[in-house]
This record gives sequence, C-alpha cells and structure tokens, in this order.
Amino acid sequence: MTVIDREPSGDSAPTLSVPVVDSPPGDQAVGWRHRHLLDVDVLSLADLELVMRTTDAMREVLARPIAKVPALRGRNVTILFYEASTRTRISFEVAAKNLSADVVNIATATSSVTKGESLVDTVKTVEALGAQLLVIRHAVSGAPALAAEVFSGSVLNGGDGWHAHPTQALLDLYTIRASLAGPDGSLAGRKVVILGDVLHSRVARSNIWTLTAAGADLWLCGPATLVRGFEAWALRGAAGRRFTVTSSVDDALRDADVVMALRIQKERMATGLLPSLREYSARYGLTRERLAMARPGALVMHPGPMNEGVEIAPDVAAGVQSRIEEQVRNGVAVRMALLYLLAGVRS
Ligand code: CP
Repeated sequence: MTVIDREPSGDSAPTLSVPVVDSPPGDQAVGWRHRHLLDVDVLSLADLELVMRTTDAMREVLARPIAKVPALRGRNVTILFYEASTRTRISFEVAAKNLSADVVNIATATSSVTKGESLVDTVKTVEALGAQLLVIRHAVSGAPALAAEVFSGSVLNGGDGWHAHPTQALLDLYTIRASLAGPDGSLAGRKVVILGDVLHSRVARSNIWTLTAAGADLWLCGPATLVRGFEAWALRGAAGRRFTVTSSVDDALRDADVVMALRIQKERMATGLLPSLREYSARYGLTRERLAMARPGALVMHPGPMNEGVEIAPDVAAGVQSRIEEQVRNGVAVRMALLYLLAGVRS
C-alpha cells in the first residue's frame, strides 16, 4: 500500500509499501519523477504501476467513513477549463478536496479570457494568485504544454484537443485491470476494442499507449474515415505492441474482452466524414446483438459523455456488463493518486 496520509515530500517522499497514518512527511523516495502530466507516452511501466498502486491506496481512503486525508493540506489546486466537462472537472475537484487541498475553480466563460486574455497571461495570473497544481482543459492540442512552459508548479492535462487525455487513460487502465489483469497486472492475452470516432478522440490516443504498454491486444474500429492514419501508429515506435486497425465491426468484436465505445465528436468533426448519425449507429453502434459477438461477460466501457442510441444502445450502457459508472468512480481515486504524486515533485 502506498503511504498517502502524510504530505508528499518531493525527493524525500514515502515508500510504496509501508502504510503510515497521519504521520509527518517521510524521507524515502516514492519513485515518481514527472513534474507535469501532459500525456501518458512518457510514463514507464514502473510509473504506470506506481499510479495503479497509489490509486489502490486512494480507493482505500475513499472506503473510509470520512474519505479525507491531509496529504495536500496547504496546497493550492487550480482547475482551469476552457472546454465543457462534467466528469473530469468535478472528479478533480472532489479528488483535491479529499486530499485537503485548497481548490480554485475557474470558469473561463466568466473570466477575463472573454476579454481576450491569453492563455499565458491567464496562467501567470493564477500562479500569482497562489496556484501550485494547475489542471487545465483546452480545445487546442498542446495548450497544457504551453502552460507548463510558463508555470512554476505542476500542470495536469485534463484533455487537450485531439491530443491527449492522460487521466482518462489511466482510469480506464485501472478499471480494466480490476477485472481482467493477471497476477502481475498484465493485460496480455486480453482483446480490447475501441469502437467509434477514433480520429477525433484524445481518449483513444492516450489509451493506445497505456493499454498496449500493459500488454493488451488493442483493436481500433470505426468507419474508414474515422480510423484513418492510425495504421502508422501501429508501425511507429511500437515494437512488440499488439495493435490492429479495422473497419470491420465483426472482426473487432469477435472474442473481445473489453469494448469501449466512443462518442461521435461533432464539435471536432469536419463535414463529409459520416453520411449520417443514423447510418453510423446502424453500422457501428454497440447494440446487445453486437456485444454478443464478444466474450461472455466482456466489459462495456465509455469515457462519457454518451449519446445513447447513437454509439451505444441504452440497454448496453445500463447492462450488467457495463463498467461506465465504475470508470467515473475510479476517476476520483486515479486523480487523487496523480495529484498526490505530482505534489511530491519539487519544481
Ligand atoms: N471523459 C470526459 O472527459 O468527460 P467530461 O468531458 O465530462 O470531463
């Protein structure tokens, strides 16, 4: 179990194996060295394992009658979202509060962003106001990386454009491992399908890294216009990773252990990529009949928000195989773990 009831202490943070409750900061390295979390492609297998184990410890905190520890007492977590969000924004806020951090939530629609203030100026302003850990979501890929260049604390990417959604990928990995991992945490031999609008999906891009790193046999499936370009990912720098791109929903779903449906992201979609949502739903929607091609008991997942009746049938989303609410619950524990780990790294 990871020690999480005391404050993280940078290079002298606690060990992974000794539970200490409400004690002063320790003097042993926890092994986390990343100042920012901009994507998952920089995380080693050891990093992933550390996030998973720290999340286990955070779930244990969440199971207590009072789900709160003083780990981030006196730290400021500022949440700056330029795009709409329900799950990510609220779960970061809940996670930070569970760690006793001071939380500042900025709605850009009512901030000086509407008067033309730049991202850099906004980041410098929130830093001057006390921000130490900055969670940022932005419609533009790379915006959190730009923020990280000018911010003296830690930046956590809450989703940027088509690029990355690292905390979603980590909570997805945690959720899948909870049901399907071997004793070593590996997903080797498990077929995981990401079905839908892969092209516009930052969730898919981050999940490709974590799921293949964990050993899963990953399949990306959707209309040719919505999976194009990903064959190159299969070839590029992914030696030893199992990764297939297809437009055949039958090939993808056959004997799958996990099916993750993705929303059609109309806000990022150029015209002409789909004949109609009705046709998409008829050919690629995750229905009970299609799910029957997967292994019995295959996990059904969706990062949300869902458009039920389009990419996923309501009875599948609410069915016994669904892990969608578990994904949301695990999001709090994973984000607690990441805030805790990043708070332990000195700038
Ligand atoms: N999965 C996800 O990012 O959901 P929100 O847009 O509601 O945060």
